[in-house]
Amino acid sequence: MTWKYEERGNMIAKSHPARILITGATGYIGARLLRRLEQDALPLRCLARDPSRLESKTADTTEVVKGDLLDFSSLAKGLQGVHTAFYLVHSMNTQGNFESEDHQAAINFARAAHQAGVQRIIYVGGLGDSTSSLSPHLRSRQDVGRVLRTFGCQVIELRASIVIGAGSLSFELVRCLVERLPVMICPKWVATHAQPIAIEDLLAYLKAALNWNSKESRVFEVGGPDRATYGDIMKEYARQRGLRRWLISVPVLTPRLSSLWLALVTPIYARIGRKLVESMRNPTIVTDTSALDVFLVRPRGLVDAIDRAITSEDSEITRVQINHNPRLNYREGNQQQWLAKQQAM
Ligand SMILES: NC(=O)c1ccc[n+]([C@@H]2O[C@H](COP(=O)([O-])OP(=O)(O)OC[C@H]3O[C@@H](n4cnc5c(N)ncnc54)[C@H](OP(=O)(O)O)[C@@H]3O)[C@@H](O)[C@H]2O)c1
Repeated sequence: MTWKYEERGNMIAKSHPARILITGATGYIGARLLRRLEQDALPLRCLARDPSRLESKTADTTEVVKGDLLDFSSLAKGLQGVHTAFYLVHSMNTQGNFESEDHQAAINFARAAHQAGVQRIIYVGGLGDSTSSLSPHLRSRQDVGRVLRTFGCQVIELRASIVIGAGSLSFELVRCLVERLPVMICPKWVATHAQPIAIEDLLAYLKAALNWNSKESRVFEVGGPDRATYGDIMKEYARQRGLRRWLISVPVLTPRLSSLWLALVTPIYARIGRKLVESMRNPTIVTDTSALDVFLVRPRGLVDAIDRAITSEDSEITRVQINHNPRLNYREGNQQQWLAKQQAM
């Protein structure tokens, strides 16, 4: 597919094929989307705070431009000549206030995108009932979608629960807990329902959103066919790995204690663990199934999704990303050894 750029105050010549911009290409979903779209030989550009992290990881046809969403003045170059932009960014790893940073990043990006004539922004946000008391993390995900819609570009927001795939923060959390603890004293969030989606199916939705023939802004809730508690997900992971695990649920573990406990047993920083754990008190299930009517994607079930994550075909990309990802900081020494051990088992 080649789009001809429709002029809206931009200097790109009409004969140039418009580019697709990926923000967050150094992150989990963005890195996989980049690889998927490169397989389709689409004209791509990545916007990254540290372009050197994408060196040798992009096709010759993919441009990499330096840009920080918290710095408005750094965005114009990356957005020039872009037709559609994927917004796959969040500030979970900040030392500051992630809610205000994510809000500001969305304002900067939406304003710069509108000024550059971008027509469509595709954003992956989070599921959760907006009328209930959402965790700061989920509240922030939905706030970003709202902000992106206010500046005039069409916005397609895909709201997802836990993404199942090797390297996904939330899945790695499950993996680490189950691999390391034969007996788990679990907080009550293990009984909260989620509707996980396999990374392959989320990527299929992102591609479908790219090709969607509509100009309206829409929020789509996306998930696999299975609703499962976090406990169910851990038990299924253990079953597939042949591990005997006991989960004992206690009602008294506060989010703060939970995150300290997580920091002891998982590689994920305590501050990220806390944000994830706080979100696990909110059910993240699909209540509006219109994505199934609009798109042809038929997501696989939880058993298949976990099976694919364990026998991940993309172990190389996962290994490279985990080694360079400060968000996945294995406390017990060498990450490569740990991953090699997982893959050998
Ligand atoms: N993974 C899941 O289970 C899941 C589930 C539901 C929804 N989502 C949503 O999907 C989106 C992507 O998630 P992910 O798991 O791929 O996240 P991730 O692996 O943590 O990646 C986040 C990306 O954001 C980039 N970033 C952060 N601040 C930035 C800034 N100021 N300027 C430019 N880039 C910035 C990071 O770049 P650096 O490398 O420079 O830090 C990184 O590439 C998020 O909106 C997330 O909430 C994810």
